[in-house]
Amino acid sequence: MNSKDIVYVNGRFVARAEARVSVEDRGFVFGDGVYEVVRAINGRLFATRFHNDRLRRSLDGIRISLDRDNTPERFVEIGKQLLRENDLLDGEATLYVQVTRGATTRVHNFPPPETPPTIYISVARFTPYRDLAASGASAISHPDLRWGRCDLKTLNLLPNVLAAQAAKEKGAFEAMLIRDGVVTEGAKTNFFGVVHGSLRTHPCDNHILPGITRAVLRDLAREINIELEETPIRVDEIPKLTELFLTGTTTDVMPIVTLDDKPVGRGKPGELTRKLQRVLAESLSSGND
Ligand code: PDD
Repeated sequence: MNSKDIVYVNGRFVARAEARVSVEDRGFVFGDGVYEVVRAINGRLFATRFHNDRLRRSLDGIRISLDRDNTPERFVEIGKQLLRENDLLDGEATLYVQVTRGATTRVHNFPPPETPPTIYISVARFTPYRDLAASGASAISHPDLRWGRCDLKTLNLLPNVLAAQAAKEKGAFEAMLIRDGVVTEGAKTNFFGVVHGSLRTHPCDNHILPGITRAVLRDLAREINIELEETPIRVDEIPKLTELFLTGTTTDVMPIVTLDDKPVGRGKPGELTRKLQRVLAESLSSGND
């Protein structure tokens, strides 16, 4: 916790310890809401346009509408104010934005249309995984038990939580999720791999979250003439992987050098992974907002 620790809830800036939402909030009762996590470096929020578009898409996807004053752009402004108020204008931090369908008596169908959504925004100090990014991390494979709209960034993260815990219990950094014989993504990241010299990742469909880091990296790869095939990696191709890495707002490009206790490729970060790590780091430090 930082010295001030101010958060934003429903129009008010309050100390985190004083912040309150109702026990009838649908985020609490049903996981009925959506969220975003945005990277902040030296007070600059990274790729906010992409995050705002995705937040809009998630809200539309679960049919939450916001009034004219509550826009994703406004949430970014609130985020900047929180960074200032919490002395997080230097170094690394994350911004968290959550919108739920509001608080009403428990009923599965939507509450009356006048029920205001609950808006919660906070910032936190963040330390990138520098040592692991240099040495490479380990992952386990795990069944993808999620619903049919993984493209929406909803609060319903139970399968992700269980997969992340399974990874932790095996001393691994991430769980690589498998559905219908292909690698979809991670519990909190997107997966990329190199098979027969081609860089591959799962295409954007309803089985993965369209990661912002994934999109930024795809564009950066194109600029340096690295071709990306948006074709899923099949489980039977896993032994042929020569490189494997994951991407995410809080993981950047993270090499995976061990999968299910077996080395990936030569068991150390590959050349392509290193190159993409460098270009993403440059983009992050140049403040792409
Ligand atoms: N997780 N896939 C899933 C399931 C995720 O939850 C995330 C992000 C990603 C990577 O997306 P992005 O590059 O936009 O961060 C992929 C966030 C960081 C979280 O839940 O904390």
